[in-house]
Amino acid sequence: MTDCPKSKPRSGHLCGKTIAPEPITGRLSVSELIDRCFTAYNAARVREICELYAKKIARPDVVIGMSFAGALTPAGIGMSCLIPLIERGLVDWIVTTGANCYHDLHFALGLDLHRGTPFVDDNKLFDDEVVRIYDIFMDFRTLLQTDIWLTKILARDEFEKTMPSSEMHYRLGVHAAGKQKELGIENKSFLAAATEYEVPVYTSSPGDSTIGLNVAALNVVKKTGNFDVIRDVNETSAIVLHAKTEVGKSAATIWGGGSPKNFLLQTEPQLQEILGFQIKGHDYFFQVTDARPDTGGLSGATPSEAVSWGKVDPDMIPDTVVCYADTTIIMPLVVAYLVENDIRREPRRLYGMRDELLEIQARKFREREDIIRGTRSLSETVDFLRSHIKDKPDNEGEQK
Ligand SMILES: NC(=O)c1ccc[n+]([C@@H]2O[C@H](COP(=O)([O-])OP(=O)(O)OC[C@H]3O[C@@H](n4cnc5c(N)ncnc54)[C@H](O)[C@@H]3O)[C@@H](O)[C@H]2O)c1
Repeated sequence: MTDCPKSKPRSGHLCGKTIAPEPITGRLSVSELIDRCFTAYNAARVREICELYAKKIARPDVVIGMSFAGALTPAGIGMSCLIPLIERGLVDWIVTTGANCYHDLHFALGLDLHRGTPFVDDNKLFDDEVVRIYDIFMDFRTLLQTDIWLTKILARDEFEKTMPSSEMHYRLGVHAAGKQKELGIENKSFLAAATEYEVPVYTSSPGDSTIGLNVAALNVVKKTGNFDVIRDVNETSAIVLHAKTEVGKSAATIWGGGSPKNFLLQTEPQLQEILGFQIKGHDYFFQVTDARPDTGGLSGATPSEAVSWGKVDPDMIPDTVVCYADTTIIMPLVVAYLVENDIRREPRRLYGMRDELLEIQARKFREREDIIRGTRSLSETVDFLRSHIKDKPDNEGEQK
C-alpha cells in the first residue's frame, strides 16, 4: 500500500489503488490485462509475481533458481515458456522431475502429443494403445520410440561414468539439439536450450522417471550413467553460495511443489546449518501451487514457514508471493508479461562454472574444522548462525 492517493484517506489501509478496471477491449496486451484487471485474489498474486520478476528478480545481481513439478513439459510448457525464459537469461539454474526431462525428449524427436479429454474410457485408450496424462493423449509408440533413442544415446561411452544430474541433462541436451537439427526443427526441447545457454538442470530424484529406468536397465549390463546425487546437492548449494557472496541475491522461483521445490530451497539449510556459513536465506521467493499449507507437506508450505528453517531471508518477506493456481495457466501469463516488457539479461552460464564454485565452497568449508571433526558446540553454533540476522541494522531489509 505505497501509492496513497493525494486526498488523505481516513485509514492507511485505504491507500491501495482503487479497484476500477476499465472494460476489457480487444486491444489489451497480456501485460496490460494483468496490470489493469488482475485486481484481487490469485489474479492479484499473478500480478505481484509479474512485478517481482520484472522489477527485482530480473536484476543483474540476482541468481535465479527455478523448480517445477507436475506434468508441465507434456503440456508444451517447455516450448512455450521455458525456452523463452532460458534464451532471455531469466533462469540461471533449474530443478525439475525426471518426468519433465523425459517427456521433453519426445518433442526433440519430432514426436507428437495431442490435445484430448479427461472424459474418456481408459479401457478404450488402452485397446487403442494410447496413453493419457489427464487430457493429453499420446501414442504408446511415442514412449517406446523415446526409450529406444534414449537407450542408444545412454549406451555411448560418454555416459559410462558416474555424473551429477546436471551433466546427464547437459549431455542429453546436446543429443536432443542434434536430433532437432537432423529433423530440421528448432525450439522444441528445453533441455537442448538449457545446454545451449549452459543452464544446469538438476533432478532431485533421478531414479524416479523413465530416464532413471533406462539408466537402470543399461546399468545391469554396463556401468552406465550412475547419478552422483551427492554432487548435485553440493553443486546446487555452491551456486547459492556464489549468489549470496559474489553476485548479490538469490531468487527461488517455484512452480508446483514436490521434491524439486525442496531441492531448490534446501540449499540454504545446507549452507547455514550443515556447512556452517553465516549467510541469510533466499532473497526473493514466489510459488504457484495447488497444495494447501495446513497438511504440513512441503508442496504447500508458505514462505513464512520457510523463514523458520532459514530457507528464506526474514527481511525479504515483502518480496515473497504465493499464488494458488495451476502452473499451466500462470506460467504463460508471467512469461508473456516478461517478454512484452522486453525483460532480459545476459545468460549467466553457470554450467561451466560448477567446478570452480564447488572448489570455493569446499575451501570455505575446510576452514570449519569444528564441524568437520564434529566438535562444534550447540550453543555457539546457534549464536553464530543467528547473530548476523538478529543484530542487523534497522534499515537492512528491502521493502517492495
Ligand atoms: N514417465 C515418467 O518418467 C514419469 C511420469 C510421471 C511422473 N513421474 C515421476 O513422479 C514424480 C512426481 O511427479 P509430478 O511432479 O508429476 O507429480 P506431483 O503430483 O508429485 O507434483 C508435485 C506437486 O506439485 C504441485 N503441482 C503439480 N502440478 C501442478 C500444476 N499444474 N499447478 C500447480 N501445482 C502443481 C502439486 O502441489 C504436487 O503436490 C516425479 O519424480 C516424476 O519424475 C515419472
